[in-house]
Amino acid sequence: MFLISNTKMIKAALANGVTAAFPALNYRTDAELRAAIAEIKSATDKPFGVNLIVNKSNPKYKGQLETLLELKVGFIITSLGNPFEVIEKCKPLGIKVFCDVVDLAYAKKVESQGADAVIAVNNRAGGHAGKLSPKELVTLLKENCTIPVISAGGIAHGKDLKEVMNWGAAGASVGTIFIACEEADISPEYKQAMIDYGEKDIVMTTKLSGSALTVINTPYVQQLGTKANWLERILNNNKKLKKYAKMIIAYRGMKQVENAAFGATYKTVWCAGPAIEHVHSIRPMAEIIKTLTKEYDAA
Ligand SMILES: Cc1cc2nc3c(=O)[nH]c(=O)nc-3n(C[C@H](O)[C@H](O)[C@H](O)COP(=O)(O)O)c2cc1C
Repeated sequence: MFLISNTKMIKAALANGVTAAFPALNYRTDAELRAAIAEIKSATDKPFGVNLIVNKSNPKYKGQLETLLELKVGFIITSLGNPFEVIEKCKPLGIKVFCDVVDLAYAKKVESQGADAVIAVNNRAGGHAGKLSPKELVTLLKENCTIPVISAGGIAHGKDLKEVMNWGAAGASVGTIFIACEEADISPEYKQAMIDYGEKDIVMTTKLSGSALTVINTPYVQQLGTKANWLERILNNNKKLKKYAKMIIAYRGMKQVENAAFGATYKTVWCAGPAIEHVHSIRPMAEIIKTLTKEYDAA
């Protein structure tokens, strides 16, 4: 999770029987990214992943990819762009590539490029959500693809996980229920918001990254509005300016999300998905994972 997933969380996940990944962008410099990978590797030999934004909004993409190839992480999760180069370079090194997809057309495309699995991002996901329900998306991809389908979105309870596995998913990508874990370095206010707000408070906004993003409907988000304003719409509709408009919106929006995640500010834009409904306390990663697996076994 952008801004949230850190080495403590990854190590805790790996120590408790699940794999985990963090976005390369959570580290500002190449040295910090290398240090994070080295820290995790010194604690465990279990495989973990790194998420790469593979479109032009990530100016660090090339350098990050080179580092991940050199350090041979277990897997790379690609999002928001064409993963071809990543797949092509990872294959000979045995690094697995899992690609975020929201529909069948894109899933078929990455499958034909050689992706090892698709991450099926549904309309219950936190972050950049998809359009189809978890069941619609998993069954559609299962029927039409041969590579494994990992379901992303809406897992809050073990029975949710059981359901996606019964539809044929090979696993699930889970985010929101870990935001308020003890190991996360986000502000106490963000963690408390995860407890105080519920599913009814989650809204989609295109104001922050240019793409639809799930956030908590705080008074500040209400004041900001969730739709692009007239100037942003004009820029977005202009073929030449569109690219730059998106970059500016994303830069400004992500700065706000970053400020809200780590400090006390009245500009509270906190990212979370509908699974927030089941977050009731701040707990260690180990406990959240144990509860989920216990519920799964009982479902
Ligand atoms: C706060 C937050 C930040 C996220 N950041 C990223 C990201 O940087 N890259 C990515 O591929 N997915 C990102 N995701 C999506 C998660 O990897 C995962 O697919 C999603 O959280 C699953 O849905 P859930 O939140 O209902 O569990 C993010 C999700 C959240 C909630």
